[in-house]
Amino acid sequence: MTDARTPKRLFIETYGCQMNVYDSERMRDVLQPLGYAVTEKPDDADLVILNTCHIREKATEKVYSEIGRLRAHKERRAAEGKGMTITIAGCVAQAEGEEIMRRAPAVDLVVGPQAYHKLPELIARAARKTGERLAADFTAQEKFDALPVRAPDGVTAFLSIQEGCDKFCTFCVVPYTRGAEFSRPLADVLAEARSLADKGVREITLLGQNVNAYHGGASFTELLNELAAIPGIERIRYMTSHPIEMTDELIALHGSEPKLMPYLHLPVQSGSDRILKAMNRKHDGAFYRDIISRLRAIRPDIALSTDIIVGFPGETEKEFEATMQLVRDVTFASAFSFKYASRPGTPAAAMVGQVSEKAKTERLHQLQALLFAQQSAFNAAQVGRTLPVLVTGDGRKPGQKHGRSPYLQSVHFTDTTAQNGDIVDVRITASTQNSISGERAVLALA
Ligand code: 5AD
Ligand code: SF4
Repeated sequence: MTDARTPKRLFIETYGCQMNVYDSERMRDVLQPLGYAVTEKPDDADLVILNTCHIREKATEKVYSEIGRLRAHKERRAAEGKGMTITIAGCVAQAEGEEIMRRAPAVDLVVGPQAYHKLPELIARAARKTGERLAADFTAQEKFDALPVRAPDGVTAFLSIQEGCDKFCTFCVVPYTRGAEFSRPLADVLAEARSLADKGVREITLLGQNVNAYHGGASFTELLNELAAIPGIERIRYMTSHPIEMTDELIALHGSEPKLMPYLHLPVQSGSDRILKAMNRKHDGAFYRDIISRLRAIRPDIALSTDIIVGFPGETEKEFEATMQLVRDVTFASAFSFKYASRPGTPAAAMVGQVSEKAKTERLHQLQALLFAQQSAFNAAQVGRTLPVLVTGDGRKPGQKHGRSPYLQSVHFTDTTAQNGDIVDVRITASTQNSISGERAVLALA
């Protein structure tokens, strides 16, 4: 028996992408009314959720070894007459639900990304050891409908508008684990955005695996226009985008809508046309470069970010060099780069010419040296400029505040008076690879 008056402890471990970070926050919120408060320690938790990611290599094995560690806590707690419900959520749950239940009896519940709104019920059932233990097949619409509006942590928030993917890049598990592309209805998105604005959120990042493929009763550009009209919302970002969904209207909006931040995360994956074709990316290098030059023509200062995979099956040194050349030509303000990891069930896993681990490591090393240099250069280029910074909290040192630049840089600056949510001018005086710093600019009196 659980007593509703006793606070229960919830431990959530999040692996992988922003979508999972967002989902973990939603799970936390949906469980809060049941009396669950977050704890940082798994050993004294009544409920543990591992929100898993299937994209990276050995993800599944990591989950099993974590379950092994949790089982020891669970047994100790059982000896003390206390319970521990172990729940596996996220993409590994979706892809391998039955297998997890078979291989790891310590797991009480496996729940796929479409069923998080059912968590309270499922957890109650698991605690009573009755009913179904597997629930991974609810529709995306139900999920969006049933989750409460997220309580914002502060002045920035994620807003999920689209899920799933129909692109089927040959290396990727998302189309299998997250299912078909689905857009949340426009009215729901706008209602949530207004509610976030009312709670003090100033910057919204729209989320989706293919966010710019949004079609929830309006085009993505129309949605951005509607969001920009909401009082209180000062800054809008979106991720992750696919190059083939960068419409002329969307590109043009980057030149005309001041609330749309000068930052774009646009994965390119490779600079080689042959590899892009084998990846089923549906675009080539020239197409990507064309988007970038059109964006820069109307928004010269735009900060670009990307995802790149090295060592895709069959990638030669020359083809890797094409990726390096694309990076040299485009220049990125930040980037995520990965060694290709074979995901069972995806077409690329069965391709001939898998690249050796050694070659992948060498290529990643070379690529990252270039990307890190570009990131440092982008940050250094801000020194001497005065940037509008959204204040998000106190800085590390006394007398310092922390915030975000329009280019998604982390900014530390000297000031004591700015409040969270203010947008203040900061004169940038120094930079590192990962952040910039400066001082609050004071308006000179004439
Ligand atoms: N191997 C390596 N990187 C991958 N990604 C997705 N699947 C794989 C894989 N099998 C990377 C892509 C994607 C990012 C989220 O993760 O670059 O854009
Ligand atoms: Fe995966 Fe490609 Fe879809 Fe992105 S666009 S989620 S990489 S299949």
